[in-house]
Amino acid sequence: MPLLAQLAARRSAEPRELTAPPPPPEVLQAAAELAMRAPDHQALRPVRFVHVGQQERAALGELFARAAQVRGRDAVGMQMARERAFVGPALLAVVARIRDDVADVPPHEQWLTVGAALMNLLNALHLQGFGAKVLGGSAARSEVVRRAFCHEGEQIACWVIAGTLADAQAAAPTATRPPAPIPRDLLGDWTPDWAPDGAPGGMP
Ligand SMILES: Cc1cc2nc3c(=O)[nH]c(=O)nc-3n(C[C@H](O)[C@H](O)[C@H](O)COP(=O)(O)O)c2cc1C
Repeated sequence: MPLLAQLAARRSAEPRELTAPPPPPEVLQAAAELAMRAPDHQALRPVRFVHVGQQERAALGELFARAAQVRGRDAVGMQMARERAFVGPALLAVVARIRDDVADVPPHEQWLTVGAALMNLLNALHLQGFGAKVLGGSAARSEVVRRAFCHEGEQIACWVIAGTLADAQAAAPTATRPPAPIPRDLLGDWTPDWAPDGAPGGMP
């Protein structure tokens, strides 16, 4: 398949569609390295990835349960949080470091780099034959979890789960989902009716 068609075929995979084997270390490494090709103003490197291995899922579950407890959840809520640590054959934390002390690189530019890196990671996993999905959730916003993953000044942006697409049948609902309609204003031409007196210009 031509490369553009392969990229256009990428879809997020639901957790139930992802099975073992997980992407091997060299696939994750290649994906993380491609993520580093995102445009990065002043090379601030605002993103890194933390892999959570199978052996560490139980510890992550206890961390999620503790975070749920801090949020005031009862034993049932804590158990649900615990179980979320086992989602996905492979699990990565996407850790962002957004600085507010770089005059020429405001936070929104750094977040754009994080997003671009994330997209490159997803595309690299897809092109290497693995399914993946980005997940957020309250654990990503928990200070308890943040402290266990992040250095000072960092935060968890989101999680990525990845694995082998279960089988053609199981993957079909997602894989064959029709693409979203392209908005008419997705790509337009600027009309330069800007005026020096501050009158609004015409944005495409
Ligand atoms: C930062 C971020 C967090 C997300 N968190 C969740 C989530 O917690 N649960 C969920 O079902 N989808 C979440 N999504 C959306 C999915 O990852 C995915 O983009 C969506 O299901 C659309 O699928 P598509 O990528 O095939 O278009 C999140 C997306 C982003 C970018």
